[in-house]
Amino acid sequence: MRILITGAGGMLARAVAEHCAARRDEVFAHDRRSLDITCEQGVREVFERERPETVINCAAWTDVDGCELDPQRAFEVNSRAVGLLAAGARVAGASFVTVSTDYVFDGQQEGFYTQRDDPRPASAYGSSKLEGERLAQATAARTVVVRTGWLFGPGGRNFLATAIERARRGERLRAIVDAYGTPTYAPDLAARLCELAELDLPGVYHVVNAGAGVSYAEFARAAVEVSGATGVEIEGIKMDALARPAPRPRNSRMRCLLSEAVGLQPLRDWREALAAFAALG
Ligand SMILES: NC(=O)c1ccc[n+]([C@@H]2O[C@H](COP(=O)([O-])OP(=O)(O)OC[C@H]3O[C@@H](n4cnc5c(N)ncnc54)[C@H](OP(=O)(O)O)[C@@H]3O)[C@@H](O)[C@H]2O)c1
Repeated sequence: MRILITGAGGMLARAVAEHCAARRDEVFAHDRRSLDITCEQGVREVFERERPETVINCAAWTDVDGCELDPQRAFEVNSRAVGLLAAGARVAGASFVTVSTDYVFDGQQEGFYTQRDDPRPASAYGSSKLEGERLAQATAARTVVVRTGWLFGPGGRNFLATAIERARRGERLRAIVDAYGTPTYAPDLAARLCELAELDLPGVYHVVNAGAGVSYAEFARAAVEVSGATGVEIEGIKMDALARPAPRPRNSRMRCLLSEAVGLQPLRDWREALAAFAALG
């Protein structure tokens, strides 16, 4: 398949590009320098030149607090630009897979969020990602929205990746005890994005590794365990104590109602994925 990947400097896009290259797809991977997705002309030129059969959009402004302080930029990148990509895909006759987030939910609900739950984002980041989903769906019928949560994997700069790094070095960790999500291994998600691109069945999918959700502190503990480090202290903190600009969901655990129905196996348990990641060294 001829696959266009955006946001190629980021953690997920790199995993997608690696997966596609291993499958011998024809890959056009663009980081922000070679394709700024907010640039309408740039987007048009790339589609005309590369004529992709599918597009996997991993580009996003993922700085949750940054988005809260500059919502205009958040909507520019996470909403309007997603609409531009969807329009490019429609004109090119390509399917369009765009990655969204558990932060479209406000986290007030108990249990797992499914597609039956109305999104109600509490932050500018979540609102901008939800608007991106909607613009894409309104623009291109062949849109597959993939909501995921708490990513970890090679090259990540988020809490989960940092926790794993620190655990390996035997350093002390601070982690939130009262926010729960579903950890997801970027390479597992990358493989699933490709499957969904091939299936070409439009809709909203929730894609996370299997297993019960955890708090950040529980994830940190699991990371310490698989790292083999001993004597690592984990200081539990309450989410409110951090007083960050953007609110985060207290619970953003997700489950998918569609994946099995379209013949997809659940992704492996996140603990198994964490062990595989730790084994990379
Ligand atoms: N990480 C998580 O825990 C998590 C959880 C749920 C959902 N997601 C979603 O998963 C997707 C991938 O996330 P990730 O963790 O791989 O994020 P990431 O590492 O921050 O990667 C995002 C990439 O998008 C690029 N980008 C930003 N603005 C752009 C623009 N205007 N044009 C082109 N590229 C641009 C960034 O480049 P610069 O660095 O140069 O700005 C970055 O390389 C995103 O849609 C995110 O919302 C992530």
